Amino acid sequence: MNVLVTGGAGFIGSHLVERLLAEGHRAIVVDNLGSGQQQSIPEGAVFYRLDICDEGLHDLIKAERPDIIVHLAAQSVVPVSVRDPGFDARVNILGLLRLLEAARQEQVQKVIYASSAAVYGEPDRVPIVEEMAGRLLSPYAVSKYAGEGYLAVYHHLYGLPFTAFRFANVYGPRQLAKADGGVVAIFLEQILQGKPLTINGDGEQTRDFIYVGDVAEAILTSFERGDNTVLNLSTGVPTSINQLINELEYVSGRPIERRYGPPRPGDIRHSCLSNEKMKAALGWEPRFSLREGLAATWAAFHQKTVREENPDGIV
Ligand SMILES: NC(=O)c1ccc[n+]([C@@H]2O[C@H](COP(=O)([O-])OP(=O)(O)OC[C@H]3O[C@@H](n4cnc5c(N)ncnc54)[C@H](O)[C@@H]3O)[C@@H](O)[C@H]2O)c1
Repeated sequence: MNVLVTGGAGFIGSHLVERLLAEGHRAIVVDNLGSGQQQSIPEGAVFYRLDICDEGLHDLIKAERPDIIVHLAAQSVVPVSVRDPGFDARVNILGLLRLLEAARQEQVQKVIYASSAAVYGEPDRVPIVEEMAGRLLSPYAVSKYAGEGYLAVYHHLYGLPFTAFRFANVYGPRQLAKADGGVVAIFLEQILQGKPLTINGDGEQTRDFIYVGDVAEAILTSFERGDNTVLNLSTGVPTSINQLINELEYVSGRPIERRYGPPRPGDIRHSCLSNEKMKAALGWEPRFSLREGLAATWAAFHQKTVREENPDGIV
């Protein structure tokens, strides 16, 4: 298939593009390289450096005629959305609308959209099921939720098929430590620098960590299944920050010093997303255990550090 991936130079996008090429699909990347990196785009992909808000997006879609569009490009940093809600809305809402208009006019077969657990805000209970969305606590949550609404409306008005995934906390190789919610990447960099880990609060807060390879696989599965619905993309397994650090200690083989600080204001205590609806809709479930995913992530981060410290390959 001919697959266009917006945000294909980013963390999740670059893994998806890798899988697409491995499966024999043609991959077209559209990315403005805002947070993404050109060197992350796998060899063999067609790359356009373009902002999704740019008028040229329609012509590009017309010329490339993708069968499927996977829309990952976004303003995805919550504090940025609070500081500049207009910018957040321009990228996440107007950018999406530009894409949807082109997709319906150019008869794209399906649009797959990256939404977020942010649409749940502070949930009353876990695991969180899809019906619990709507407690929006940031402009980012509003723009992602609005995106889901537009997909449903474009399906209703024009019959454009879609799948919207609400990602849990995605981790894996190539995640940037500065990314919002990128706690695994932040911790790994600190471990590699021999620094102690600072934990906000008592470390008993839980998150649902899903390996990026599983996210790429789920997106691929949705090419043929899970039409016109919103699905949590998660493991359904809660992991506390303390448990996460124990696992990191195990996979890295390094002793980790922990420093406990005050809880971060506004942090959600427990977040774990039920994946029952996704399993039923896609006939698929995540394959990587936390330990397997962290081991692969550690190996990649470690290798990158070794390369950076020894650019000539002399160890
Ligand atoms: N990583 C997570 O845990 C997580 C969780 C929930 C939702 N998401 C969503 O998944 C998607 C991908 O996230 P990621 O972690 O890979 O982030 P990322 O920042 O690594 O990737 C986003 C990519 O989009 C590109 N981009 C941003 N604005 C653009 C624009 N206006 N035009 C063209 N390209 C643009 C960036 O350069 C980057 O390459 C985002 O939509 C994000 O909101 C991610």
